[in-house]
Amino acid sequence: MLSMTGKVILITGAGSGLGQSHAVLFSKYGADIIIQDVNGDGAAETAEMVSANGGKSHVMIGDVRASDEFSEGAKIAMAKLGPVDVLINNAGISSRGRAFEEIDDEIMAEMFDINIKGAYVATRSVLAGMKERKEGRIINTSSIFGMAGTAQGSHYCGAKAALIGLTKAWAKEFAPWNILVNAVAPGFIPTPMTNRPGKDALREARIATVPLGHEGEPNDISHAVVYFASEGGKYVTGQVLSPNGGVVI
Ligand SMILES: NC(=O)c1ccc[n+]([C@@H]2O[C@H](COP(=O)([O-])OP(=O)(O)OC[C@H]3O[C@@H](n4cnc5c(N)ncnc54)[C@H](O)[C@@H]3O)[C@@H](O)[C@H]2O)c1
Repeated sequence: MLSMTGKVILITGAGSGLGQSHAVLFSKYGADIIIQDVNGDGAAETAEMVSANGGKSHVMIGDVRASDEFSEGAKIAMAKLGPVDVLINNAGISSRGRAFEEIDDEIMAEMFDINIKGAYVATRSVLAGMKERKEGRIINTSSIFGMAGTAQGSHYCGAKAALIGLTKAWAKEFAPWNILVNAVAPGFIPTPMTNRPGKDALREARIATVPLGHEGEPNDISHAVVYFASEGGKYVTGQVLSPNGGVVI
């Protein structure tokens, strides 16, 4: 049986959806979790779920775009749980189905700042420690839309494609310190982000494009993330794993 006992996992956006699912699965394997999110209620809910698995956690509230606040929060969290072994850059926002003309500078900046700047901010807060220990895993969260594109969401597709580029660049740059960097690119997974009221028709239309005939579950992504973080993933870096039911092959 896989064991993550003694490992410390920092997950951004861990108060909902996929990040919450990752926290729960890692805690089942014995890991301690730093639950980072801008949403305090969601983060507290995740902490209860981790505790129900007998796991330890620390809640770190804040915006992934706020560098100084994040690095202070990470220091406090690591003083409590220990240095971060695995960072999961997961925080993100939906594209909200915006046509090109609707994507102004502010909307564009928000999307890129949360996805790309957020990944830099979080990675900066743990990288020095990983380099010192010559060990670490970083897992970024892309999307099938970052691989294949979609209409009405070019800012989302661009940000998610950029995450694949920086995953590959960081994988090469950090390899001398045995820090492995990979990405997951989820397909259609029902979460509060995707399962929004009034979007049933869109959801059905998406399901109709899935060769396996159904949506995935948050845990399908969490197992991929756990693989990248596990002993079995020790020779895997710069890769993108896309649990997507066959939509993008
Ligand atoms: N659900 C899917 O089908 C799907 C598919 C592909 C990729 N993704 C990606 O997976 C990740 C998780 O998505 P989800 O479906 O779980 O969404 P979600 O909305 O359920 O969870 C996202 C979490 O990120 C947090 N967050 C948002 N902005 C933040 C910020 N600035 N600072 C800190 N936390 C912030 C939110 O509060 C929320 O708890 C996202 O990066 C998303 O783009 C999801």
